[in-house]
Amino acid sequence: MVTTQLTQSLRTSCTQTDASARSCNGSRTSCCRGTSRQLRARLQVLRIGGDLMTARVAVVTGGARGIGREIACRLLSDGHRVAILDVLESATKTAGELSDRGRCLGLRVDVSDEGAVADAFTAVSGALGPIGVVVNNAALTAVHRPWESVTGDQWDRTMAVNVRAAFLCARAGIEQMRPQRWGRVVNLSSVTFLSGQRHLIDYVSSKGAIVGLTRSLAREVGADMITVNAVSPGSIRTEIDVENFPDQAAVAAQQAAVQAIPRRGTPADIAGVVSFLCSEDASFMTGQLLNVDGGWLMH
Ligand SMILES: NC(=O)c1ccc[n+]([C@@H]2O[C@H](COP(=O)([O-])OP(=O)(O)OC[C@H]3O[C@@H](n4cnc5c(N)ncnc54)[C@H](O)[C@@H]3O)[C@@H](O)[C@H]2O)c1
Repeated sequence: MVTTQLTQSLRTSCTQTDASARSCNGSRTSCCRGTSRQLRARLQVLRIGGDLMTARVAVVTGGARGIGREIACRLLSDGHRVAILDVLESATKTAGELSDRGRCLGLRVDVSDEGAVADAFTAVSGALGPIGVVVNNAALTAVHRPWESVTGDQWDRTMAVNVRAAFLCARAGIEQMRPQRWGRVVNLSSVTFLSGQRHLIDYVSSKGAIVGLTRSLAREVGADMITVNAVSPGSIRTEIDVENFPDQAAVAAQQAAVQAIPRRGTPADIAGVVSFLCSEDASFMTGQLLNVDGGWLMH
């Protein structure tokens, strides 16, 4: 099933619809001279915005929309090849919108399903090459309800998508990173873990677990030159945020009152930090939680 989707995805031509999609086609990239043909074929060294970096294969979970889509777009623009794994059917369409050069694949996958994750990672490396970057962005986003009303099944589902999936994808990715002696795992936490927000007990608990996973995994894989970090977004305007909070003017005013930088956060604010964590510049940084919230919480 994953293989069929992959074939379809590779055949998908560009259907760019907006300015952000146009910026994702790697037009800033150029091959660096002086590298041996063999090495170039394997790693494709790129000069981007004045910085030398190495193009990799990146998996972005939950990349069909919102923050994940913007991360996929930014990593493509950095020169990486990107696979979007999302439970939404639109994963393939998003991949087609982001790149017209077969550098972006979209696969419909439930990342909490162990077998599906294994199949997807095999399919991605078969099509794009060995995976060097995993961004665990997929999540069931916050459903506000008093803590006593959360059922055991709801708790388990939130943990499965928000924590188990990150473990499964990190494990599948790291298996391919180890022989490369290079790798990046970036996990999406949330500012709600730091604030201990009420009426979100399963979500907040899962976002705390992501920090534990980040720290423990960082210790285990550092010797393989693989870094593991987490990013905690503050209040970011995405499709799901607008759906959950239709009165966006009120949200903007509320955030302006508590943040040092009085504007709404955007998916690009998060994608820029993820891009840095995936770069060579972040090679000596691991096990960290970076708060990207306009100075809402300071710790
Ligand atoms: N938007 C914010 O204000 C905010 C704040 C803090 C943290 N975050 C975190 O940032 C990340 C992205 O948030 P967003 O606002 O873009 O939300 P979103 O709901 O738009 O994105 C989540 C994506 O994950 C996908 N997904 C859900 N379950 C899946 C599964 N089982 N398998 C594969 N894909 C699955 C969804 O289809 C969606 O595309 C999440 O981890 C979220 O917790 C967001």
